[in-house]
Amino acid sequence: MRTKLVVGNWKMHKTLAEAVATVEASLRWVDARRDVDVAICPPFTALSKVRELLRHTHIQVGAQDVFWKDSGAFTGQVSPAMLSDIGCAYCIVGHSETRGRFGKLEVAESSLGYFAESDHTINLKIRALLFQSINPILCVGETEAERQAGQTEAVIRNQLASALEGIDPSEMYFFAVAYEPVWAIGTGNTCDAAEANRVCGFIRQVISDLTDADVAQNIRILYGGSVKPDNADELFRQPEIDGGLVGGASLDPHSFSRIVMAAGSNA
Ligand code: PGA
Repeated sequence: MRTKLVVGNWKMHKTLAEAVATVEASLRWVDARRDVDVAICPPFTALSKVRELLRHTHIQVGAQDVFWKDSGAFTGQVSPAMLSDIGCAYCIVGHSETRGRFGKLEVAESSLGYFAESDHTINLKIRALLFQSINPILCVGETEAERQAGQTEAVIRNQLASALEGIDPSEMYFFAVAYEPVWAIGTGNTCDAAEANRVCGFIRQVISDLTDADVAQNIRILYGGSVKPDNADELFRQPEIDGGLVGGASLDPHSFSRIVMAAGSNA
């Protein structure tokens, strides 16, 4: 039986004061739900403070991204060693927004390559995180155009194969993979629960093929993309969905608490 995991991805939202207020408003409810693993991923500026507030709870903190070197002349980057130093337990890797598919930026598509991570850098980040015992939350998922073209499975298989290349199966027990269809992120178009379940099952099968059946049975596969209090119940009831990666709805303490409740075993 896999323990459900609910992760709040705040993206580029909240000042320090707003972060503190948000955590304080939901802490009591979320911490009471001890049968659900929970992590909050604030922006880097609020990580330490949020970690301090959560110190005596079962709620963990995670980062939204990382660089793969421990230190050096890498202006603007944060290393796994730095994340470990402040008690980060998780780190999101390969989110479609860091893969360079923002879609909403007023910059030329051709310049996105400079911001974007590649399959290779995702693999390097995962290795660097594992070295520091930080649990990667690996995001995979297809765009609308890839889905229309019938490429969903091929895209996800490739993303998984390159992200996990050379990683020892024994290191994968603490991984989480998030199925995040790009067309469902921040759009309000949640993927149908049965379809999300089918794709999460497919991801489990690919992980089994790439590693072994035991790893695949134990790894947590989350769904992300417009998870809200009113659809969380149905999503989390699906046998292949082990929790959620929640963006917009995690910004509101009441919504986030309700989503965590929905993941509880007797919800
Ligand atoms: P959303 O974002 O819940 O706002 O759709 C999910 C994510 O990007 O992780």
